[in-house]
Amino acid sequence: MGNVMLEIKDLWVEIEGRSILKGVNLVVGEGEVHILFGPNGSGKSTLLSSVIGLPGYRIVKGSIRFRGERIDGFRPDEIAKRGVGLAFQRPPAIKGVKLDMFIQSIANVSDCAPLYRELELDYLKDRDLNAGFSGGELKRSEMLKVAAQAPGLVMLDEPESGVDLEHIAVISGAINKLLKKDRPCSDRSSSGLIITHTGYILDYVKADRGHVFIDGRIVCTDNPLEIFHGIQKQGYEGCVHHLGQQAIGGAS
Ligand SMILES: Nc1ncnc2c1ncn2[C@@H]1O[C@H](COP(=O)(O)OP(=O)(O)OP(=O)(O)O)[C@@H](O)[C@H]1O
Ligand SMILES: [Mg+2]
Repeated sequence: MGNVMLEIKDLWVEIEGRSILKGVNLVVGEGEVHILFGPNGSGKSTLLSSVIGLPGYRIVKGSIRFRGERIDGFRPDEIAKRGVGLAFQRPPAIKGVKLDMFIQSIANVSDCAPLYRELELDYLKDRDLNAGFSGGELKRSEMLKVAAQAPGLVMLDEPESGVDLEHIAVISGAINKLLKKDRPCSDRSSSGLIITHTGYILDYVKADRGHVFIDGRIVCTDNPLEIFHGIQKQGYEGCVHHLGQQAIGGAS
């Protein structure tokens, strides 16, 4: 592995006094794409929220490093400015803030017009952010947000859930562009951490590693397509029994 983009060591996180993450270890290298699988409520979204530093996620043990710098304890805006982006599973609606106003204020790219076109979002520019957006529109507007930020670490929480098949292709195209999948590995400076249940994203986005998350930890790590097919055949617990105890603890 070349440079390390994200390094999570023995991360324990509590929400309202309840332990949710229980010793997560994860290393994502520069240019790599990792996929997180796992049942509802296992803590996948909590992991991404903890990385971006959302309030309410209390880190009780462990560390999070981005490009070598310790970021746990930093505010979300400080973390975002360093180059970490998160597309929410369920983004909040913000009345009084127009989509385009928001995008222009966070954009690190000089021209957002091609992103709007690519994600077919021009017609939503002057609508209040996420207010009344359909399921698919919400996911495309989150993708637009992250694409406009052009972060080094692209975290996507179920980017294709509830999206029709044609728009999954549109979103996947935007993901591949953001992750520079059209360039040779040595040219890729951004990394991805993507949560999926459906696995559709794997048809479009070439991923390097997959992890299964159960009860607040990574219980196995393997080729993402193999993991997904294993889950389809044997469920989430399958890989734990298959790979045995040595896999527990993740990719570190
Ligand atoms: N703000 C909160 N207050 C209390 N409990 C919370 C809060 N946020 C998350 N949790 C709990 O933390 C656990 C993990 O939730 P999380 O959203 O991380 O799961 P997930 O793996 O992303 O699930 P899904 O696949 O359904 O999206 C759940 O039991 C959830 O109810
Ligand atoms: Mg989730």
